[in-house]
Amino acid sequence: MTNKYIYFVANWKMFGNLRSLNSLDKVIKFSKTNKKKKYKIIYCPPNTLIRPMSKRLKKTTIQVGAQNCHHTYEFGAYTGQVNSSMIKSVGAKYVILGHSENRQIGETDNLINLKIKSAIKSGLKIIFCIGETLKEKRSKKTNQILKRQIEKGLKSIKNKSKIIIAYEPVWSIGTGAIPKEAALTQTISFIKSRFAKKYPKILYGGSVNNKNVEKLKKIPNIDGFLIGGASQSSKKFIDIIQKTII
Ligand code: PGA
Repeated sequence: MTNKYIYFVANWKMFGNLRSLNSLDKVIKFSKTNKKKKYKIIYCPPNTLIRPMSKRLKKTTIQVGAQNCHHTYEFGAYTGQVNSSMIKSVGAKYVILGHSENRQIGETDNLINLKIKSAIKSGLKIIFCIGETLKEKRSKKTNQILKRQIEKGLKSIKNKSKIIIAYEPVWSIGTGAIPKEAALTQTISFIKSRFAKKYPKILYGGSVNNKNVEKLKKIPNIDGFLIGGASQSSKKFIDIIQKTII
């Protein structure tokens, strides 16, 4: 863990309705009673909840993000799509891009690059997901894959101050499996080495829960976690935060 602000990003995926927002009350209370610690909470709900969630979190330090956006900055004839300026206008400050669940259905490195550029133009911060599949890990291609994803995803983006990297091994997402300590340490330092001195923040994601977080927080240079399943329960989410920062 770094000694900077620690990020806890909740990725709700395609879960949640208006009633689910009631679960935020416990987290709001927690953040109000733990003001002095150096951490940030960011909720990324489905697009349908960005506006009502932002309203609910108005007087708090908790921020809201989206889980994806279209690659064009302008309005356009793209049925079912929403662009970066639209999510920004309803309260999102962040957007997750390059998530493996979207890469698996056809999102390419080049498309992700266009999305990141559009999100920067809209003034959003980007949680840029990278990670290898099980097959790639088994054939020892992890570094090669991460190098490609970083180079192509961030191609011709000079100012990387808005970028947060989320290293999410695909084989770890939703499976309960996490990388071994030595391997994760090595991978994080490889990611760091792909950047000049001032590298972006690096989060870890993939099966983070209240049982393994104490192990994960020992990894050097991790700035926080991207949490899927466990973030849907405010009790588990708070437990993860507490075990990390307290
Ligand atoms: P998980 O998901 O915590 O449920 O493994 C993480 C993610 O997909 O961002």
